[in-house]
Amino acid sequence: MSAVTRLGILISGRGSNFLAIAESIREGRLKGVEIAVVISNVPDAAGLEKARALGIPTAVFDSKGRKRAEHDADVAACLKEQKVDLICLAGYMRLLSPQFVAAFPNRILNIHPSLLPAFPGLEAQEQAFAYGVKVAGCTVHFVDEELDHGAIVLQRAIPVLEEDDPHMLTMRILAEEHKAYPEAIAMVVSGEYEIRGRRFVKRSS
Ligand code: GAR
Repeated sequence: MSAVTRLGILISGRGSNFLAIAESIREGRLKGVEIAVVISNVPDAAGLEKARALGIPTAVFDSKGRKRAEHDADVAACLKEQKVDLICLAGYMRLLSPQFVAAFPNRILNIHPSLLPAFPGLEAQEQAFAYGVKVAGCTVHFVDEELDHGAIVLQRAIPVLEEDDPHMLTMRILAEEHKAYPEAIAMVVSGEYEIRGRRFVKRSS
């Protein structure tokens, strides 16, 4: 990666994880990183406005009615044009084509609101609540061709409280996500790791 790692952040909605990353950079907690572009597949994603307000370049590639590979090719071209080093999916609610994943080997991260491999897919927090687990959390992982599946960089666990309802649990997991994603990015950007099989292992200094 270059001296400053350029992030491309992909969103579909609110963009609170994107904002948490932006905030970590602004406050100097996430060093050596800049956000090159925020890309959305949803034209009216609220996160886009937040990016514009911060003066961060944005791009929209509406995925509605488009073939996955063709849509992804447009997104990949934009990321390459912006010289993005690391792609962060942050509430990007669209599966990536195998071609896209292959174009950025070990260069795509995702955050998922469960302790994978439990509860992949949509509404993970509601799935966890309904299952009755006593511990929930979030996972930052590399993206491979399977849904919510690649090597795990970092997980954060929280207890499920007696008084929780699905919304409260979702919000408490989200608060962990906002801390976990910048931390995971810092670990990856440091380059001080290797991936052994599925295991992300920090190199000892
Ligand atoms: C987050 O909870 C994120 O983990 C989840 O969508 C939310 C996006 O919120 N992603 C997934 O479920 C992906 N499988 P945000 O737009 O405010 O960051």
